[in-house]
Amino acid sequence: MLTRRKLITQAAGITTVAALPQFLRGAGFTMTSVDNSRSITGAGSLKAHASARGLLTGCAVSAKLFREDDGFRKLLIEQYNIVVPENCLKWNILRPTPDKYDFTDADNLITFAQTNGIKVRGHNFVWHEAIPAWFAGMVTKDNAEKLLVEHIRTVGGRYKGKIHSWDVVNEAIWIQDGRPDGLRTRSPWFELLGPEYLDLAFRTAREVDPTALLTYNDYGIEYDNEDNEKKRAAVLALLRRMKADKVPLDALGIQAHIKADSKDGFGKGLRELLDGARSLGLQVYVTELDVNDDALTTDDIVERDAAVARVYRDFITNALESPQVKAVLTWGATDKNSWLNSRKIRKIHPDRLQRPLPFNENYEPTAAFFEMRETFDKAKKR
Ligand code: G3I
Repeated sequence: MLTRRKLITQAAGITTVAALPQFLRGAGFTMTSVDNSRSITGAGSLKAHASARGLLTGCAVSAKLFREDDGFRKLLIEQYNIVVPENCLKWNILRPTPDKYDFTDADNLITFAQTNGIKVRGHNFVWHEAIPAWFAGMVTKDNAEKLLVEHIRTVGGRYKGKIHSWDVVNEAIWIQDGRPDGLRTRSPWFELLGPEYLDLAFRTAREVDPTALLTYNDYGIEYDNEDNEKKRAAVLALLRRMKADKVPLDALGIQAHIKADSKDGFGKGLRELLDGARSLGLQVYVTELDVNDDALTTDDIVERDAAVARVYRDFITNALESPQVKAVLTWGATDKNSWLNSRKIRKIHPDRLQRPLPFNENYEPTAAFFEMRETFDKAKKR
């Protein structure tokens, strides 16, 4: 149980008063009471604790923060051994016009990662969202296949040998669209190419970059509840079908956008998903972990952080029971620019910023950081 006392003890790993969490400031907590031996960098970093267990740990990187903030780049180097561009490999960012690619942000991040010994995930080749405005006016059933193949060849080819794993297809299952196989039909890719777009994308990706681990990535598949159960079954059936058809597929990405107030747990359902992936010989990556705390009724930051941290612990502990899980990435590192802090997401408490990530807006570790580290320590070695 994360008590206020434990949080304060954990926070004592922070090395300067300026870096103290808000709740410790002005509470008689001074520099002299800070125990510098419990550093959060070096041997105390997330990556040190993860790699001791054979795990990768990382975060999604906002191109804007990466460009503008030295502190953020320093945090990436200190804490992580894998990163994923949050947006800059998506079609709408890479392809401002049909004939032009803008690789500026992706090139900068990938060069930085290589220089600093950090692996990179690629996100993503195919998604029904983040499609550029020009797409609707010029892509047809006749030219869609050529366009998709050329896109994967161009982008995958440019970064060949530099990508740990590609999210080849993102979020292709949407039960509500009513197909027996659960495939999302309200997607330009499905509308233009039919269900075959998945195999086409994976086969092209393998041809282009044979060393990248090819991943199917989705959300809403981790909880023990009816909706997640249906989606999980459809995802597993899709992966099984692809394997049976010898489609090149190496990994399942579990996004894990989860909630601090959820009554549902991560037990039987998550085990079924992980066992299913294992039976197909797939690795599993937790690709986009964050904890939405908008619905928590308390405004007390310590209580909110403790609730978020409990969910981190619960989810990661259960996920790491499976030896298939090789990487844990959060969707962002700092609450400062989490997508969960966009106005349209903060519906219940619009005036309150969410605290979904291991670092707060001042890059101070939150309770979730300490839970991540402890949970890595308790995992079996991969
Ligand atoms: O950068 C522009 C800014 O110049 C402009 O003023 C502003 C006005 O809307 O938009 C800014 O761009 C936004 C961009 O995020 C950067 O913040 C886009 O509107 C917004 O659509 C975009 O949202 C991203 C979303 O995917 C759609 O691409 C989120 O950052 C990103 O976190 C989110 O990530 C997805 C994963 O790819 C897949 N899984 C779910 C996850 C969360 O939705």
